[in-house]
Formats: sequence, C-alpha cells, structure tokens
Amino acid sequence: MNLDIPKSLLDEVEELISHYPQKRSASLMLLHAFQEHFGHVSKESVEWIAAKLDLRPINVYELVTFYPMFREEPAGRHVIKVCRTLSCALGGSGKLHGHLCQKLGLDPKVHGLQTSKDGKFSVEFVECLASCGTAPVMMCNEDFHESVSADKADQIMDQCS
Ligand code: FES
Repeated sequence: MNLDIPKSLLDEVEELISHYPQKRSASLMLLHAFQEHFGHVSKESVEWIAAKLDLRPINVYELVTFYPMFREEPAGRHVIKVCRTLSCALGGSGKLHGHLCQKLGLDPKVHGLQTSKDGKFSVEFVECLASCGTAPVMMCNEDFHESVSADKADQIMDQCS
C-alpha cells in the first residue's frame, strides 16, 4: 500500500478509534481525517482504513460513495459548492454555477466536481444546504454564503488566496 501517513495522522487515528467501543464505528471519522489530510479519499486510504478497522475495503468504500462530502479525486485549494435543489434552482443557482464555471474555464454543463487549471478552485453542484429561504446559496470551503449574486461570488473568490 503506497500511502505516506504522518505520525500526527496516525495519532489522530488511534485517538478517534479510542472513542468507540467497536473499532468499525470510527469509519466515518477516519474518512474525515484522511480527507482533511490528503484532500480526498483515495483507494489506498480506503484500503488502509479497512485494514486498520478489520473491515473489508468495500465496507469503507460504500461510505465514500454514499456520503456526498467525501471526494475520491483531489480538489482545488478552495472548494465551492453551489446548491442546485429547488429553491436555489428557482433563485438562480444555475446562473451562479455558470458564472463560476465561465470565470474558471470550466464546463457549466458538468454538475460534478471540476477544478480550475491552476488548482486554485473546484466547483460542484450539491443538494440542499438547508438555507432555502436565502437562495441561491453556496459554500466556499467551510464558509456559508447566502443570496449569492455573480458580483458577490466574485468578491468571495477574490478573498481566497
Ligand atoms: S434549496 Fe438551496 S439551500 Fe435548500
């Protein structure tokens, strides 16, 4: 398995596992820790976590494919998630996504994760972000933004280094 895991992550893994009476219950937390460290969850990470928790890789991989917050591919330094569910769709999220894609040289027809050539931004559509009254809504990394116009999106991106 070709995975370079630093001691800090190994320590975090042990700490997380210690919180649960059964090792397998730490699966989601380990996936979060690996994505936080590596930027995505690779096949090697899935295999490593499965071995660590005495699970089969498929038991871990099914979590990666079920939960939309996990990425199998590397993303840009800043990940923008645009809500595409009904209120936001009616509120202009398609236009917002199109604006972002045009600005970053990405394909507006693609709803999944796309990354700009310079690796600075990734953009993707996601389902409801639970702020339907302030559509359109997007997240930039962990920050939540409401009523996002094209101008507001430009300002948000300008603040990203
Ligand atoms: S529909 Fe966009 S936040 Fe709910």
